[in-house]
Amino acid sequence: MADQTRVLLDDIDEPGLHTIEVYERLGGYQALRKALTTMEPDEIVAELQASGLRGRGGAGFSMGQKASFMPKGTMDKYLCCNADESEPGTFKDRLLMQKNPHRLIEGIVIAAVAAGANRAFIYIRGEYVLQADILNAAVAEARARGYVGANILGSGHDVDLVVHRGAGAYICGEETALLDSLEGKRGNPRLKPPFPANQGLFRGPTLINNVETLSNVPIVIAKGAEWFKQRGTEKSTGTKVVSVSGNVQRPGNYEIELGIPAREIVYGLAGGPPPGRKVKCWFPGGSSAPVLLEEDLDRPYSFESMAEAGSMLGSGAIIVVDDSVPIVSLALRVARFYRHESCGKCVPCREGTNWTVKMLERIDRGEATPMDIEILDQVQQNIMGNCLCVLGDSMAMPVRSMIAKFKDEFIAHNERAREAADRLAVGAGLSSEPVDAAA
Ligand SMILES: Cc1cc2nc3c(=O)[nH]c(=O)nc-3n(C[C@H](O)[C@H](O)[C@H](O)COP(=O)(O)O)c2cc1C
Repeated sequence: MADQTRVLLDDIDEPGLHTIEVYERLGGYQALRKALTTMEPDEIVAELQASGLRGRGGAGFSMGQKASFMPKGTMDKYLCCNADESEPGTFKDRLLMQKNPHRLIEGIVIAAVAAGANRAFIYIRGEYVLQADILNAAVAEARARGYVGANILGSGHDVDLVVHRGAGAYICGEETALLDSLEGKRGNPRLKPPFPANQGLFRGPTLINNVETLSNVPIVIAKGAEWFKQRGTEKSTGTKVVSVSGNVQRPGNYEIELGIPAREIVYGLAGGPPPGRKVKCWFPGGSSAPVLLEEDLDRPYSFESMAEAGSMLGSGAIIVVDDSVPIVSLALRVARFYRHESCGKCVPCREGTNWTVKMLERIDRGEATPMDIEILDQVQQNIMGNCLCVLGDSMAMPVRSMIAKFKDEFIAHNERAREAADRLAVGAGLSSEPVDAAA
């Protein structure tokens, strides 16, 4: 089995790691001490920027740069940790929060001090009841030790931290919908700009980062940006926890150095598809990433390489699809999810996801004309870049990629379904046009 590079998951098997005693025994909260006693907030931001750490929640934006956008001043500022983790195929944040909640809390407090925020929230998906309980217990422990709350470690910095449970809506993972939900409103995305760093929670400047991004912060501060950059590629530094699922023999979370060939993850770590099956396609970054083909597994698994291949690393969730899966079923499965989760606030997403499902169902039933497949592709083009947030694009991108890469299969699927329906109709005496007896 290929090797993992464990940095974030280094002590993950240590019994009791979720307790503050064990976390401290393994060096926990030393990075916070270092940041608060030896560094100015600007220096923390500069170190994060120098590390090249990019967001692990989807967009891959530089974490340090985002923190540097936070304005100076005495207004109320906030930090929100995005723990909504609803992208299909993604289950890495669950592991990080369940096993190592204190590293996340330490990262949040350091990042909040760097950004000048004195109130922080962890917005956790509603289904993660166990993880929310673990986090609440860990926050209470950290507060009792003086790592959370007023005048942390006598530094004069205050950071309050609240764990807030969502109610099971994928859209609330989108950063501005998350803010609305946290404010007690229906979780709908906001028009950007203004971006959250300028006007976010309760209209105050807000830094929003994913669980894995923030969990990396104590590592960058404790070991330094140079150490962090030694792993990964020039543009994708560090390691990444990759959730591998679908048609593989060993699904699970694996921590890898960014830039290793994707094949090492899919075959080496996850065991590849079941015996006798081949990889038909794979999503490199959750179900919203355009699918790639078997030969793309030789590409380095990094932000830049996945983008060059026409897809994205996204949340780092690799979903493998083998040759037993009809592409139309896969497209339908994806489209139905996004239709269900569309908040309906903007037309291209609300109507586009619905029409896509309807058209795919027509293909599935054999009721489409060849022109319909072109129209289906045009619908996707009309969604992309035209929505309030990228939920619509999250359906259009993978569906488009499936049409582009497996168009013949879409046509053949429709033909087969039409012929089967015709045979049924003739059998039932409903059709006056008998199909070719030899067919
Ligand atoms: C529909 C939608 C759902 C999203 N869901 C999540 C999510 O569950 N978790 C997450 O971290 N980011 C999610 N994002 C991305 C966030 O909007 C945001 O980019 C991210 O929290 C920023 O953190 P990062 O820079 O650390 O990656 C989602 C985006 C969209 C458009």
